[in-house]
Amino acid sequence: MSEPGLFCQVNTAASGPAETAKKHVPVINVPASVKAGQPFTVSIKVGEAPHVMENGHFVQFVDLYCGHIYISRVDLTAELSRPEVSVTVVLHHEGNRMLRAFSRCNLHGIWEGTKEVCVSK
Ligand SMILES: [Fe+2]
Repeated sequence: MSEPGLFCQVNTAASGPAETAKKHVPVINVPASVKAGQPFTVSIKVGEAPHVMENGHFVQFVDLYCGHIYISRVDLTAELSRPEVSVTVVLHHEGNRMLRAFSRCNLHGIWEGTKEVCVSK
């Protein structure tokens, strides 16, 4: 069942019931440190617990940002995909950068997960 309150905000691990958050917060997997200008893989899985991908309830997309800078979107379909994506990313500026992933569930709204990565020379 749809939960209208979840559509009025960007949800995080602290939003909604813990069981709902556990299925929706994107989990980012990335090396702790990467080289500036060198490609690396960011893997994103929606939820610590598996999220269904049924016609009436599914994850529609996963977006990846570095801070407020958009990097990528992967659109997903019910039944034919799973909410696990990998993106090859190149960051050009040194320093600690916050990767932010957003997923959208058609019944439970948008959810954010973050992970810091250290970009060095
Ligand atoms: Fe959901």
